[in-house]
Amino acid sequence: MELHWILWLNFLENTSKNHNILSVFNLYDLSMDQNTILQEFSTITTKEQLTETYQKYLGKNGLLSAELKNLASLSLEEKKEKGKKLTDLRQSIEEIFEKKEKEFLLDEVNELLQKDAVDLFVPAKTLEEGYFSLSAKTRRETEEIAQSMGFIVEMGNEVVTKFENFESVNIPITHPATEMHDTIYVDKKDERGENYVLRTHTSSAQNYILRKYGAPVKAVVPGKTYRFDEMDATHDVMFYQFEGIYVDKNISMANFKDVLTTFLTMILEKEVEIRMRPGYFPFVEPGVEVDARYEYYNMKTGKKELSNWIEILGAGMIHENVLKAADINPEEGRTGFAFGLGLTRMVAVKYGIKDIRLFTNGDLRFSHSF
Ligand code: DAH
Repeated sequence: MELHWILWLNFLENTSKNHNILSVFNLYDLSMDQNTILQEFSTITTKEQLTETYQKYLGKNGLLSAELKNLASLSLEEKKEKGKKLTDLRQSIEEIFEKKEKEFLLDEVNELLQKDAVDLFVPAKTLEEGYFSLSAKTRRETEEIAQSMGFIVEMGNEVVTKFENFESVNIPITHPATEMHDTIYVDKKDERGENYVLRTHTSSAQNYILRKYGAPVKAVVPGKTYRFDEMDATHDVMFYQFEGIYVDKNISMANFKDVLTTFLTMILEKEVEIRMRPGYFPFVEPGVEVDARYEYYNMKTGKKELSNWIEILGAGMIHENVLKAADINPEEGRTGFAFGLGLTRMVAVKYGIKDIRLFTNGDLRFSHSF
């Protein structure tokens, strides 16, 4: 609302309040009926009517104007008496006119204000704020945790060569392990004339990272991975993994256990205990499956209890063939470990989500509830 309208409105309101319309009721009985005049003015509904009525009495040829003019022809005595009554009447008409005039002006202002109105109580149209999906949120948090532990974050590519996805991580193309991953192929062919693939695991970025940085290197690769899988509550064609790779001199299983325990404790926001079971992954030797468990408060028993062991990631000491494929000489005492965490699975575990399809089906009620 513009300021001058507010001032104008205040002005009109104050002046009309102070205005004493009641004085009109004190009219003397004149040749014309004062009640009729009052009545006339009080029933006026338009500005035009107001002008007309004013003109009728106080216009140049108005009835009252005529009477006032007539005063001149009267005797002094009559002049005194009638003159006072007529001027009183004139004043009253002027007053009621002004009052009416202000009412109309006020109406006009109000109308304008209505048009221009800013109603502070009308609920605003809110633009919905964007937010990260649960997977994206956890991925970012996990990246930050890894960064705080000295890991570089690399995204790698989602469309990779078969070499990157398999051979560079010690999975010979003919090896049955390629069958473990139901690979999705892309039409386009690489330099070797082989079809590109959608990475089946983030381990496909290991070669790229080892070549880019050489050793020592400490990096993580969060991202989407794809497998041609039947979709159900625990499988999806796209899921997130989180790869870690740490190569340096004299890296041992002990370093590995320590780093992973810290990492998982930070991610799960619980004091985590881990255990390793032998596991087979061509790119590590020895390879392990890592399970984690943590203490939690059981509301049923009212006691702190240990959770079940949760299978959380695959890991191991990097196979020398992986280092060699990236032109890193294992003879120089370079060793390292790698791990691959199923991020989608971990988010499901952390938030107790039974069906991972909820992550991608676009139902905002799901995303909103976290
Ligand atoms: N790439 C494996 C998978 O998709 C996970 C994995 C296991 C990654 C062991 C690793 C590892 O780096 O050392 O199942």
